[in-house]
Amino acid sequence: MKKGYDFFNSKKIDYVELSDEIKAEVGVLGGLDIFTDAHVKGVTATTTKICDAMGMPYERLRYHVLGAYLHDVGKIYIPSEILQKPAALTDEEYEIMKKHTIFGYDICIQYPQFKKLAEIARWHHESFDGSGYPDGLKGEEIPIEASLVKVADVYDALTRRRQYKEGFSNSKTIEIMIEDVKRNRMCAQFLYYLVVVLIREIDGKINEAQHTVSMYKDQLETLHDLEAIYKEIYDRGYTQSLKRKLGRYELHPGYDMSTNAQLLTSKQKVYEKESENYQFMLSEREKLTKQLKEVKLLSKKEKWYK
Ligand SMILES: [Fe+2]
Repeated sequence: MKKGYDFFNSKKIDYVELSDEIKAEVGVLGGLDIFTDAHVKGVTATTTKICDAMGMPYERLRYHVLGAYLHDVGKIYIPSEILQKPAALTDEEYEIMKKHTIFGYDICIQYPQFKKLAEIARWHHESFDGSGYPDGLKGEEIPIEASLVKVADVYDALTRRRQYKEGFSNSKTIEIMIEDVKRNRMCAQFLYYLVVVLIREIDGKINEAQHTVSMYKDQLETLHDLEAIYKEIYDRGYTQSLKRKLGRYELHPGYDMSTNAQLLTSKQKVYEKESENYQFMLSEREKLTKQLKEVKLLSKKEKWYK
């Protein structure tokens, strides 16, 4: 059974069809503002999309979503000066930050229904090559669920804008994540489904952008036609035929040559911006499509979780 969730709808974010009991428990664990944190919501949304694209059965999907929701719960014990630092962390601060994995594990393990999820909280920063933290697990020592949430986590961290950095584009992010796969640090199989999702999403956006661009193009054409009429009026005077030509347009009283010129300038700017955005998305789509092929090959070669 496939279900689509709208995680941008805050009501659904809080309730993800969990039982009342679990809802209450999540509330206890997430006593601080960690659950309103955009990163947690982003990772949860991305995890859901990956699971959904995989056609995962509902119970497993629900489990992963809850795991994504709790993956950083240990951050409630990390000092806010470090958590909210508007710059990159020093080595010492980073060592403290890494402890959120152990704190998260310790929190989850206390609750019978979250015991299994404790693994996601603890091991979502591990890498197949053993270079991750906190335990330096290797290969399939890392639970598959933690590897899935890791893909969503890294994607969200790289694309998210922070005070000290811009977010990367999707294609740049996937390029970095492919490098991680090649260095044996990330799961290609889950990355593949993430790219599938991104291509689907960009297709929808391209469609919208295409409509927007053509709407502005039409408006600009009309404004240019009006500009030509006003120019003729300026050159030859307000003749009957020009009056008739103007009459074909539904213009507000007081609309004149200078209103038209101002509108033309502002619409032209919007049109250029929208066209640029449209071109950017087309190039993103092209890059993502190539990347999808590459990730597919990498996932076939991958030796983990077969
Ligand atoms: Fe984390």
